[in-house]
Amino acid sequence: MCGIVGYFRKEEGISITLKNRKADNATFPDVLCEGLRRLEYRGYDSAGIAVRDHKGIRVVKKKGKVEDLEAAIQRNNLNEKYTIGIAHTRWATHGVPNDANAHPHSSMDGSIAVVHNGIIENYKILKSSLEEQGYKFSSNTDSEVIPQLIHFFYKETNDFELAVQKTLSKLEGAYAFLAIHKDHEKIIGAKNGSPLCFGISDSEYIFGSDEAPFIDKTRRVIYLDDKDMLTVEKSAYTIRNFEGFDIQKEISEVPYDLEAIGKNGHEHFMMKEIHEQPETITNAFSSRINHINSLAVDNFPNLPHSINRIISLACGTSWHAALIGRYIIEKNTGIPVNAEYASEFRYMKPALFKDDVVIAISQSGQTADTKEALKLAIDSGCYCAGIVNVVGSDIARLAGKGLYLHAGPEIGVASTKAFTSQVIALNLLNLLLNSNRAYRSRVVGEMKSLPDKLQQTIERTEPLIEEIAQEFKNHSNFLYMGRGINYPVALEGALKLKEISYIHAEGYSAGEMKHGPIALIEESMPSLFILTGDGVGYSKTLSNLEEVKARKGRVIALTDNGKNLKHILTDKDYIIPTVETIDELSPVINIVPLQLMAYHIAKERGCEIDKPRNLAKSVTVE
Ligand code: F6R
Repeated sequence: MCGIVGYFRKEEGISITLKNRKADNATFPDVLCEGLRRLEYRGYDSAGIAVRDHKGIRVVKKKGKVEDLEAAIQRNNLNEKYTIGIAHTRWATHGVPNDANAHPHSSMDGSIAVVHNGIIENYKILKSSLEEQGYKFSSNTDSEVIPQLIHFFYKETNDFELAVQKTLSKLEGAYAFLAIHKDHEKIIGAKNGSPLCFGISDSEYIFGSDEAPFIDKTRRVIYLDDKDMLTVEKSAYTIRNFEGFDIQKEISEVPYDLEAIGKNGHEHFMMKEIHEQPETITNAFSSRINHINSLAVDNFPNLPHSINRIISLACGTSWHAALIGRYIIEKNTGIPVNAEYASEFRYMKPALFKDDVVIAISQSGQTADTKEALKLAIDSGCYCAGIVNVVGSDIARLAGKGLYLHAGPEIGVASTKAFTSQVIALNLLNLLLNSNRAYRSRVVGEMKSLPDKLQQTIERTEPLIEEIAQEFKNHSNFLYMGRGINYPVALEGALKLKEISYIHAEGYSAGEMKHGPIALIEESMPSLFILTGDGVGYSKTLSNLEEVKARKGRVIALTDNGKNLKHILTDKDYIIPTVETIDELSPVINIVPLQLMAYHIAKERGCEIDKPRNLAKSVTVE
């Protein structure tokens, strides 16, 4: 998804601090490019900057990576002492990735430049009415209407802020943008639906789609809300709503530092994040586990006494966590739980009741579908809360209550540590809704031992998984199967493999195998089974595994109890041994070897692991 950076240097002659680069060599465009690099994880296909000084605005933009942009900046000799700049990484929505469609976009006369993230839904109408007024467009994007409209209103008002405000009244859709004008030493930022925050240091102001572009310079941040417009100039910054009324906003403290965004010695962010999980799950429960009752008061205030049902809203990996939550909470509390795809829920006119509790689950807190589905539930008067990783994100603020995951920034596009923390958060919710003290203390005890068990699982399985990756790297298809709580783990394992290695992988409930997928079984179609726990799920899954072996299918069995498998499997099969825990917490242990397997297979295949093709980290558009 697109990334936005805006940089305003308050004082001349202030040295610029750059990561991994000597401060005295850094130029103003270097700072913008460094900011863009920190947003690369969001996914992009082109990049650009616009800088302003007393002579006007200069724009350089390029299809490709930030390095391509830097080369173009060199060729264009942008070495002046600028004080204002905006920058952008674009992930194409309207118009193919090329130089013309890259941001910044300018008004026809070049007096205004804009970087934009999101979608302007009514851009066609706006574009044709501007064209009727003689405006010429040079891209196929929806974004270009923004600088052109600002220009149109500036001609009328001769007031940059008013022109932006009038433009905002015409735009429909989800967006965040930054605008600069050749005659004004200002950056104006506006947010409605897409993320935008604002870092404040003594010598500089920095806008970002998140805190990454400025986290090494300042931790002081303002998270803009929807319909906020922020104007920054030398002496001050002002925040107004879209109607032009002044509003006050609190300055918050960013809860992590630059090192948290680095790779910590790993080749990829995904690997770093997989290995962080013993620590991140601890962060999710440690301060809460002994205070379940105060969790009810502090994090879920006024939770209805008699809950009709729980509806979880989520997408992708977060939806798999929601399904796990269903298995845990419904079984242990008797409260009906639905796990809904947010993208379906928002359009299906769901029947919602006053005593329904709706939980939006999202790593980024920005996913457009989850956000809209949550808004629908809020409008219906349901009790709503969030389980979110990114502090201050839209979903967290909309929900207003719930649990933060405290997993730290997740940079790898494929979600790993957020998933295991979501499973912990859902377990905390289960405990909160459960009055059986013996049950509670059993789960709490087990949760405390989970980080060590997870560490053991990683250490015990990784060398074997590297061998499995060598062996299976050239396969084109995989089946992942499990029953009960292991069914969503199978879905998540398959999703990990397909998104980063581009191998087709299907997750199935093992009980469904006989209703279709069994037709696929042959030697070239490996089946990964998850068999853990001592319940009926284990023995039934074992029978399904035997059915595969009877048809000469190859098997990888992820299990905490391999002794029953030895006589069924052949030397073409593998057992990945996991560490035993209770059912409720088993997804945390079981998913990690599957994350590792996806990682090592993708690496063997030479895939771009942290930024898989066509995927974006925050899906802030439909
Ligand atoms: C998969 C993945 C996606 C996200 C989904 C929801 O690895 O990362 O499927 O889980 O786009 O994102 P969030 O949790 O940010 O709402």
